[in-house]
Amino acid sequence: MKNIKEVFQERRSIKYFDPDKSLDDKTLKEIINMAVLAPSAFNLQPWEIIAIRSDEAKRRLYNEACSQKKVLNAPVTLAIVGDTLGYRRNNPIWDVKIESGLSENKAKSIIDNSEKNLYPTPGKKVAFAVRNSSLLAMSIMYAAKSYGVDTHPMIGFDEDKLKEIFNIDDSKTVTMLISIGYHDDSKEIKSRERRFLYDEIVKEF
Ligand SMILES: Cc1cc2nc3c(=O)[nH]c(=O)nc-3n(C[C@H](O)[C@H](O)[C@H](O)COP(=O)(O)O)c2cc1C
Repeated sequence: MKNIKEVFQERRSIKYFDPDKSLDDKTLKEIINMAVLAPSAFNLQPWEIIAIRSDEAKRRLYNEACSQKKVLNAPVTLAIVGDTLGYRRNNPIWDVKIESGLSENKAKSIIDNSEKNLYPTPGKKVAFAVRNSSLLAMSIMYAAKSYGVDTHPMIGFDEDKLKEIFNIDDSKTVTMLISIGYHDDSKEIKSRERRFLYDEIVKEF
């Protein structure tokens, strides 16, 4: 297992996955089950994941993901899906909270506040879904790296087509794709582009 500094330094967006190296189910489950420790608003976890693994599903994804070869060569591509209505009462996490002592009235007032003040417009609902599920996405990439598994995030895809192919409800957003597997060692990884540092990005007040 890599330490956190190695994980940050060694994670790269991997263009070429080794098509002959599969990712075993146990490792994939451990990665996801580690990543779900990501934070989310009210711990609502308004997300789900579609694992695209079959050749047929990969081919259909490839056609709608700007013909990015990664989705064909990686053993699995995950579609990270955010729920724009994930704060509502039908999210089963409210039952967990109520079992742990939250009153039904308090739950209702948080939900009403979310509906009326926090996420009243379609734009704010999508932002809610994308903000939360992006943290899951990042956590998956770091969790994977800690297991020595490589990833590649992508937003180059036709969201409407993906929703159609994978039966994703209109109230959900496809936040990101993450191909996951092992780098093809016969291919070079370009050196990392420079990052803007503290003095360039932080405004202090
Ligand atoms: C939200 C997001 C969307 C991205 N979409 C694509 C994509 O569609 N295709 C692609 O080749 N790379 C995509 N990338 C990868 C970035 O180009 C890459 O993360 C960036 O150049 C930094 O490189 P590194 O991840 O190796 O540090 C995406 C990255 C992020 C975070």
